[in-house]
Formats: sequence, structure tokens, C-alpha cells
Amino acid sequence: MLGLKATLLALVCTALPSYIQAQQLPFAPHLHQEQLVRLSWPSRSAAEEAVAWLDDNNFDVWSTTPQHTTLRLSPSQHEQLSSSHLSPSALDVLLPSIADHLDSTTLTPTFNLQHSEAAVANLSSTRLQALDDPIHDSYHSLDALYQILRRFEEEFSDYAHIVKVGESAEGKDILGLKVTNQSYTPTVSRSQDDVVDSHFEDSDGIHALKHKKHKIHKKLGFVVAGGQHAREWIAPSVVLYLIHDLLLSTVYVPYPSHSHRTYSRPTAAHLLDTVEFTFIPTLNPDGYSWTWATEGDRLWRKNRQPTGDGCYGVDMNRNWGFKWASGSRPNPCSDAYAGEGPFESPELRAVRDYLLEKKNNVKGFLDVHSFGQMIMFPFSYSCSRSSPDEENHFEGVVWAAKALRAVHGKNFEVGSVCEVSLTAPGDSIDWTYAVGKIRWSFSVELRGGIFGFLLPPAQIRPSGEEMSAAFVALADYVVRKEEGQRFDIAREKEI
Ligand SMILES: *[C@@H]1O[C@H](CO)[C@@H](O)[C@H](O)[C@H]1NC(C)=O
Ligand SMILES: *[C@@H]1O[C@H](CO)[C@@H](O)[C@H](O)[C@H]1NC(C)=O
Repeated sequence: MLGLKATLLALVCTALPSYIQAQQLPFAPHLHQEQLVRLSWPSRSAAEEAVAWLDDNNFDVWSTTPQHTTLRLSPSQHEQLSSSHLSPSALDVLLPSIADHLDSTTLTPTFNLQHSEAAVANLSSTRLQALDDPIHDSYHSLDALYQILRRFEEEFSDYAHIVKVGESAEGKDILGLKVTNQSYTPTVSRSQDDVVDSHFEDSDGIHALKHKKHKIHKKLGFVVAGGQHAREWIAPSVVLYLIHDLLLSTVYVPYPSHSHRTYSRPTAAHLLDTVEFTFIPTLNPDGYSWTWATEGDRLWRKNRQPTGDGCYGVDMNRNWGFKWASGSRPNPCSDAYAGEGPFESPELRAVRDYLLEKKNNVKGFLDVHSFGQMIMFPFSYSCSRSSPDEENHFEGVVWAAKALRAVHGKNFEVGSVCEVSLTAPGDSIDWTYAVGKIRWSFSVELRGGIFGFLLPPAQIRPSGEEMSAAFVALADYVVRKEEGQRFDIAREKEI
């Protein structure tokens, strides 16, 4: 611990003053002129056409649905937009000045570094025994995220251990935390042993998906990954919250009254017995570090591998290898650059291999993004293709969205990625489902309010609380389906 404290002190002494002096740097002064706006569209086709045009013309699209597109707009882009053929039915200014919003106290790197360092320095005394721990009050640098994972491993050593999933383009570790009840070994609980064959058809022919309903003598792997997109800071923070909430369900001491678990102990205990979770707070450590760096860019989206033309970064969530397409924008400098070929990103190759590794027995995958308040299932590449598991997927996400809404009343939209968001090939869950054969593949877009990626840290905790409820509902659903149990949404009691 002394070593850790010395390192922290050194960090505080060297890093903080430069951040204070250079507070403007990661947030580039030009942002003072820039606004966050939301355009509304009269139809889905208008939205699709507009987003393709915006991407081709280097606009920074933050999120889109068939009804609305949220984007960053400079004064000259404002003019370019007005003189274009696009005709949005409304334009609402969400943030009149992105820089003013970023400079507000709780979003500055100074605030987050100070709070993060204090919370991390205090980890050995708090022992992480309650959800009101200050780790959930600020965002964390990559170093701090990994120190917190190590403390989870130390404090909950019977339930948690760190795994190295691989390395980034710049050689940084991609770390995950495996969470399971290590002292429990499942015994065969079902004798039924049937094979379900299902198929879906697309332009390339028939894809066969074999879901083998096996005896449960092996724990099910369930991987939760955040941070493919670097600027979505809320994602790694929510993944930390999910870990913490689940680990606390193993603590037998009476719960402190000021704190709460999001769900019941029997549910969590059953999950920890039957599932081996792997939580990976960020799949993109290079990009994430770049959003924190003094010389970096808070709004960076991609990874940081060189792509040619002096540019950097592949959009990881366009680079998975099912229906990968370079798209209409093979511009290596673009924010939505899909790469020269599928799995060009070393980060994705690492997580792909982890997902396919037999001993990990991965049956569930949840990809955590922000923002837009959605819980989704395959497919993303096309709206006219539905998967043979669609009804089950739908049931699972409705169940999760209900659990989520019960916490803070937030409404999350559910459906296939293509339906509720817009078509995007090369996305994670299309590959995990269709090629990785991970039947229970889902993705979420967390809350962003009017702030988008610049969600104030005061919303980390509520976002974690609601997502934790949704996550446990979804995981419980998956386990029950895999165990061959009945699930009737109308008759289920709340988790
Ligand atoms: C550190 O932990 C102690 C003991 O739990 C607590 O009283 C104190 O407020 C914490 N400090 C910070 C900065 O979180
Ligand atoms: C973990 O498994 C052991 C052995 O079956 C059991 O005694 C313990 O209660 C389990 N832990 C939890 C949190 O359920």
C-alpha cells in the first residue's frame, strides 16, 4: 500500500499543476464557438440520408435515431448545414457553448483528477464496503480505473480476479475483472440435452446458428465491455458500478442503512454461482487515455492506431468482422473510419479471441455505450433481417428496461440496433451473435440527457443504479433461459 500511496503522491505533485495550468488544452479553444444541437427529421429515410451526408462532410455526429440526430456544430458548419439540401423539421440548441459547459467545475479534468485521486488514495481505508464510496462520484483516468479493479480483487478475493484480455495498439493493457463465486462448482442440473437449430437468411445465403442446450456443468461466461468509444466516459464508470453492486451482494454483514444494493441477494447469489462474468471497463485504453491527456482531445472517439495520411484511429464499433463495410466514408481521418479491413484494431482482435476461447464458455455479451437511453439486440447492419432469437431478445430487453425504469423512472427504448438507432455495419453485437455464436448479445446506450458525452459526474451514480438493475434482470433472464426454465413476463415478480 505504501508503494501505491507514494505513486499517488507523485502523480498528484506532478500531474495536477500541469492540468491546472493547461486546463483549456484538451478542450481546444475553438470549442467556445461550438454548440451541441439536435436536429429532428420528418422520416427515417430523411434521417438516414442526413447522417450519411453529415458523416461524409466531417460533421461530428454524437448520436442518432430515426427521429433525431445530435451533433456538434461550429459557426461555419451551421452555415454549411443551412445551405445544404437537408431540411430538418426542427433544430434545438442543447448546449449554446460546449466549452462553457466543459469549463463548468465538475467537468474539468482538475475536478475529476482531484476527486479520483482522493477516492483512490482512500481505497484501502474504505474497503469498498458500500456503494456510497466516493469512487462513484467522479470519472477516473485509466490508471485509476485499473487501481480500482485491483482493489476489488483484493477486497473480494473469493469472487474477483483480474484478467488481461490483451494489449492496445500502443501496448497498454486491456484489463478485465472476472467475477464469480469461486468456491461454487456447478453440478449437472438438467438432464435434457437437445440441440436447437435456427437459421437466418440474408443476401449471402442461409446462416445456421446452432444453440446447443447443454447440461449446466460449466459456468456460463458473460462478458460486459465498455468504452469502445473513448469519449463515452460514463461507460467505464457504469461498468465499475455494476461490478461493485454485484460484489457487495456477497458481503454478509448487515447492510449499512445509508447504502443499498440494487437487487435481492438470492438473485445475485444464483448469478454468482452459475455465471462467470468478465467486466472490461474499457476496450480502448489508448483512446480513453487520449481523452484525459493534456495534449489530447476530450471528444476523441476512436482508438489511436495510425491509419495513414498522418491520421489516427479506427472506429472500433465499425470494425467487427460481420458485414464489415468500408462504407461511403473510407476517409482514414474521419471519426467513423471503419478501417481498411475487419478486425484491423488490435484491441478488437484481443477481445474477439477472448470471446471465442472455449474455456471462457461465453454465452452472454453486453456492450456498454453512451448515449441515447436504449437497450438493443442484433442486428445493426440491416433492419430487414431479424434473428431467429428475436422474440427472446425482445423479452429480455423489455424485462431489463422495466427493471431500469423502476429505479429512477427513465425510459429506455428497446429493439434491434437498426430499428432504434440507425443502420451501422461492423458493430460488435452483430459479430458476437452471428459469428461468435453468443446467443445473448446485447448493447446499451446509457443516459446522456442534454449533455451527451459531457454528462456531469453527479449522474454517474444514478446511471449506475439504473443500469445495475437492468443488468441483473438481463443476466437473470439469460441464466433462466439457458437453464431451460419458464419465463413469463406477465407473471414475473420484480428482481
Ligand atoms: C476516506 O475514508 C474515510 C473513512 O471511510 C472517510 O471518513 C473520508 O471521508 C474519506 N475521504 C475521502 C476524501 O473520500
Ligand atoms: C459461494 O459458494 C459457497 C459454496 O457453495 C457458498 O457457501 C456461499 O454461500 C456462496 N456465496 C454466495 C455469495 O452465495
